[in-house]
Amino acid sequence: MAKFCVLGPERFFPKQDLIPELRKGPDPLKISMTVTIKTAAEQEKMRVAGRLAADVLDMIGEHVRAGVTTAELDVLCHRYITEVQHATPAPLNYRGFPKSICTSVNHVVCHGIPGERRLKSGDALNIDITVIKDGFHGDTSRMFLVGKPSVRAQRLAQVAFDGMWLGINELAAGKRLGDVGEAIQNHVEKNRCSIVREYCGHGIGRGFHEDPQVLHYGTRGTGLELKAGMTLTVEPMVNAGKRDVKLLPDGWTVVTKDHSLSAQWEHTVLITENGYEVLTLGADER
Ligand code: MF3
Ligand code: CO
Ligand code: CO
Repeated sequence: MAKFCVLGPERFFPKQDLIPELRKGPDPLKISMTVTIKTAAEQEKMRVAGRLAADVLDMIGEHVRAGVTTAELDVLCHRYITEVQHATPAPLNYRGFPKSICTSVNHVVCHGIPGERRLKSGDALNIDITVIKDGFHGDTSRMFLVGKPSVRAQRLAQVAFDGMWLGINELAAGKRLGDVGEAIQNHVEKNRCSIVREYCGHGIGRGFHEDPQVLHYGTRGTGLELKAGMTLTVEPMVNAGKRDVKLLPDGWTVVTKDHSLSAQWEHTVLITENGYEVLTLGADER
């Protein structure tokens, strides 16, 4: 979840209160917002958790090929997290989620449940990993293009990737969340793609989904002012078609309403005085 904007674990505001353009009264988040600042010791624990989450994605890459099921990928990740990393997969049993990772294929926007579907050449898959280590969460996702990818899927994955990094590059103490949202939205819409609004990034720490919500659209100079020591995720979901989504009857799987392709990348980031530190870089990004 990018998620859990709408379904935050500690909050049950009606959806129209959480989506700025549907809201009538004052912003309920302004009233309830409690953003935690991590101490140096907590920041170190976030670094460890973030590294572990990135390591899982590095591990699983070579297993993502035509013929494998997403349930098999789930088992490989679960065993790696629990037996090698001695960590906990955060999604498992989170608000009833049945598996240890999220696998979102093609028109699935986010929160896809691993299952018996076999990947085939041309599929575009997001794998989203969240681990808990020593009480702290690390949350990251990447796109994997199976076999011979279509030009459309490659292009969409690239637009989402660049959007995420343009958003991350806005982060620093003194900047505002609207700066992040506007940077992402501008890039995505300039490329004739759309930004999903019902799900967003989030604060992260001892909690999986903490305040604030990190919207991937918005207006520069507005929104929460960032402070050093905040940790949050940036995880834009980008659709090739319209931005509208729907939730499947399983209560988790979010798909594009028009069945167009969707792509997402996610990093967990620490805000510093001068900028940011990305806590979930892969081995080849460090
Ligand atoms: N990892 C997702 C996020 O980026 C949340 C998944 S919640 C689950 O926030 F229950 F679906 F696993
Ligand atoms: Co997240
Ligand atoms: Co995630």
